[in-house]
Amino acid sequence: MIDFIPVCEPTLSGNEVKYVTDAVKTGWISSSGKYVGEFEEAFSKYSDCKYGVAVCNGTVALHLALTALGIGTGDEVIVPSFTMIATAYAVCYTGAVPVFVDAEKSTWNIAVSLIEAKITSRTKAIIPVHIMGNPCDMDSINALAKKYNLFVIEDAAEAHGAEYKNMKTGSLSDVGCFSFFANKNLTTGEGGMVVTNNEDVFKKCKYYKNMCFPLDSPRNYLHDDIGFNYRMSNLHAAIGLAQTEKADEYRALRIENSNRYKTNLFDCPGIIFQKDEKSSINVHWMNAIVVDPEICGYTRDELIAYLKNHGIDTRLLFNGMHRQKSMMNYGCDCSGAYPVTDWLSDNGFYLPSASSLDNNKIDYICELIEEFHK
Ligand SMILES: Cc1ncc(COP(=O)(O)O)c(C=O)c1O
Repeated sequence: MIDFIPVCEPTLSGNEVKYVTDAVKTGWISSSGKYVGEFEEAFSKYSDCKYGVAVCNGTVALHLALTALGIGTGDEVIVPSFTMIATAYAVCYTGAVPVFVDAEKSTWNIAVSLIEAKITSRTKAIIPVHIMGNPCDMDSINALAKKYNLFVIEDAAEAHGAEYKNMKTGSLSDVGCFSFFANKNLTTGEGGMVVTNNEDVFKKCKYYKNMCFPLDSPRNYLHDDIGFNYRMSNLHAAIGLAQTEKADEYRALRIENSNRYKTNLFDCPGIIFQKDEKSSINVHWMNAIVVDPEICGYTRDELIAYLKNHGIDTRLLFNGMHRQKSMMNYGCDCSGAYPVTDWLSDNGFYLPSASSLDNNKIDYICELIEEFHK
């Protein structure tokens, strides 16, 4: 009998305890210990990038990347309307304005065909988000960026180890940003990283992350710019290094889980999954489904209630950026129509998705859904 299946707990099955214990026993618990550098090296390499800058969460990773690229007041940055609000907040922290673009109905990623209409003389960057671990159409986005001389910052918070045309997400643009929140495919509890192949961006990220202490000067406590304390602790990095050692294993588990959900629910018309592109590897951070009420004959909320009564934890999908009071009050243009984002927000939810979720549990969840569907 299964009592309760949480929506997404971390999987900590490697050297986490060993490395954290070492950090504690040796007293290296701030950001100065060896695990920070080792984690940066291991994870940036895993992401096909030369450089990594570990930070305390994914939101500040985005802010740091934008700062390093010189984005600020008076600028506009294109972001998807269907994303976690951190993508837009990071733009606001710089003083720039987020400009929203609706999602694509199949992949749920930013609709590339709608981006060009939103580009103005103030636009400085595009932030594509690899939603749920599904890589965006980066060739088209990079081509647009080239045409209009824009930076591209990948929000890869949900896409550790995902691939687009055999290259890892995070390495497909000027700079990539990851989150290591507890429910992510790889976690440090709280944490983030900026990855890049651009040495200048790397140096600026290192500089701004640590209060703008000079990177190489004989005299410390000289600060030429306003910096941030976005440092990651050695304790978090110790967990991150252990997680990175398991990255391929966890990626495979996430993908297997997704395949099992899709196969099991194949005969439930009206239950819709995100589409994976042939040229990509979607790492399925979350197994999300959209319930089409007209085909199914019931609503998303009714299915969620049924699952809850049977001990299955779920979460709603993100609410569109154009519906957020914070964005309206900040001065974003929220007036347009975002039909795909609204469709996802109003009809979609996450099923349990942890890497450690076993087949019995997935089968049990799917049997419940099939039973309800009948
Ligand atoms: C797309 C996206 N961007 C940014 C973030 C922010 O990451 P964090 O929660 O580590 O600040 C998240 C986190 O969940 C996310 O899903």
